[in-house]
Amino acid sequence: MRVLTGIQASGKLHIGNYFGAMKPMIELQEEHELFTFIANYHSLTSSKDAEMLRQYTLDAAVDYLAIGIDPKKTTFWVQSQVPQVLELYWILSKFTPMGLLERAHSYKDKVAKGIPASHALFSYPVLMAADILLFDTQKVPVGKDQIQHVEMTRDIAIKFNNEYGELFVLPEHMVQDEVATIPGIDGQKMSKSYGNAIEIFMDEKPLQKRCNKIVSSSTPLGEPLEWEGCHIYNLAALFLDEEAKKELQARYKSGKEGYGHFKKYLKELIWEELAEARERREYYLNHMDEVHDILAMGAKKAGDIATEKMEKVREAIGLL
Ligand code: TYM
Repeated sequence: MRVLTGIQASGKLHIGNYFGAMKPMIELQEEHELFTFIANYHSLTSSKDAEMLRQYTLDAAVDYLAIGIDPKKTTFWVQSQVPQVLELYWILSKFTPMGLLERAHSYKDKVAKGIPASHALFSYPVLMAADILLFDTQKVPVGKDQIQHVEMTRDIAIKFNNEYGELFVLPEHMVQDEVATIPGIDGQKMSKSYGNAIEIFMDEKPLQKRCNKIVSSSTPLGEPLEWEGCHIYNLAALFLDEEAKKELQARYKSGKEGYGHFKKYLKELIWEELAEARERREYYLNHMDEVHDILAMGAKKAGDIATEKMEKVREAIGLL
C-alpha cells in the first residue's frame, strides 16, 4: 500500500504534529511504502523571509529524520525539489470548481486569523491534491484538520477520471481517533499560528516553563482534582497506556497532588518520549551533508515517479 503525507516547514514541530501525523507515519514505514515530504511550497503562503524559509525547511528535515524517518525504507524529499507537482497543480485547477475551494474550512480559518487572503492560500488544497495524486497515493495519514483537503482531492480526481479516463488513484485519509486533534496549552487545537503549541525539541527548562503555562482550574491543594476535561491530563494521556491512565486518574482523585505536580509529570513524559530522537537530532545537526544527501536521494526517486506520471497526464489531456 502506498502511503503519503506532508508537513509544512513553518517553524518548530509541536506535539500536535508529532502525535497527529509523525508518530503514526513512523509506524507505517515498517509495513508500507511510505512517501513523505516537507511542504515548502505550502509554507510560502505564510512566509515573509527567504532565509527563514530555507532554515525552517532544513530544520523540518532534521526533525523528521530525528523522529525516525528511515531513508532506506522511506522516500523523503523537499516538495520544491520535485517541481513537477506544480504542473499537475495547474492541470488539476481545471477540475476544481470554485465552490469546492470556497467551502474549505482551513482557508476560512486562516483568513479569520489574519493571514492575508492570497490566491495561493485559496488554491492551497489544489496543490495538496497534486502532492497526493502525483504519486498514486492510497492512504494519507493526517490530523483531523486535513480531512477535508483529502476529500477535496478525491473530488478533483473523480472529476478528472470521469472526463479523461481513470488516471488517478482515489486516496483515503487515515486519522487515528485518539490523536485527531491534539489540544494546545489553552485547550484549543494545538497550532503554531495560534501561539498555543508545545514544541517537541525544546530544552528541558523552557519545556517545563511551557508546560507550566497550560491553563488549569484553581482548585486548592488537598482537594481532589477533575481529570476529565483537564488539558494537562489530556496531553499526558497521549503518552500513556490504559493502565497508566487509570493510575494518573487515581492521582488526580487522591487530592494529594496539585496541578503543578502533573505539569512536572507531563514534562517528564515528553522529555523521555523524545530522548532517542534528541540524540539522533544532535547527530544530524552535526552531519548536515548527510541530510542534504538524503534529501537529494529522495528527490531523485520521487522525481522519477513524478516525471513518468506527468507524461501520462500530459498525454491524456492533449498537452504537447
Ligand atoms: P501541517 O504542516 O499544518 O501539519 C502537519 C500534520 O500535523 C497534523 N496536525 C495535528 N494533528 C492533531 N492535532 C493537532 N493539533 C495538529 N496540528 C497539526 C496535521 O493534520 C498534518 O497531518 N497541508 C498540510 C501539509 C500537506 C500535506 C500534503 C499533508 C501538504 N501536502 C499532502 C498530506 C498530504 C499541512 O498544512 O499540515
